[in-house]
Amino acid sequence: MCSKKNIGVYPGTFDPLTNGHLSLIMRSTKIFDTVFVAVAADTSKKTLFSLDERIALAQQALSGAQNVIVEGFKGLLVDYVLKCNSRTIIRGLRAVSDFEYEFQIAMMNRKLIREIQTIFLITDYQWLYISSTIVKNVASLGGDVSDLVPHGVAIALQRKYSYNVQ
Ligand code: COA
Repeated sequence: MCSKKNIGVYPGTFDPLTNGHLSLIMRSTKIFDTVFVAVAADTSKKTLFSLDERIALAQQALSGAQNVIVEGFKGLLVDYVLKCNSRTIIRGLRAVSDFEYEFQIAMMNRKLIREIQTIFLITDYQWLYISSTIVKNVASLGGDVSDLVPHGVAIALQRKYSYNVQ
């Protein structure tokens, strides 16, 4: 499955995948031959969706995307990156407030395996204000998030919180 092409790994909890993530993934495919969307099993977050659900929702949203592979991974991200025959982690930056956290994990990943680099893409302006948490919060209270997430995710949120999608 992995090859010697220019491969990028975009990791996240994706609980759930939003249009912000989607936009970043599609932009990454213009830079990399193959983009692995790596759904983390080991995350400090208490997730709404199980790992299998998070993977399935991302796979569904990206089913038409060329050169994108969605997989779950356990353990250290850097080990998974090497397994994909990649040396590059892709992350998105929305605001200055993201920087400190991203700086810390990029440094730690580089300390773990020196040849792994992290590159940052600036999130498109339409998605600067969204996060998975804010989407879940609005959805849990019956707010319309259908233009912020892929359709399958909107349906899945509807099922979790039992309300109707338009
Ligand atoms: N558009 C919209 N929202 C975005 C976004 C974008 N382009 N990029 C990030 N976000 C949001 C996410 O929705 C998420 O929101 P939330 O906090 O409300 O859930 C937040 O920004 C960042 O989350 P995410 O991108 O999912 O990353 P994460 O911080 O949850 O994931 C991992 C961190 C998976 C990279 C990290 O836990 C990991 O590497 N785990 C594996 C174990 C490991 O190696 N640990 C050591 C790391 S040093």
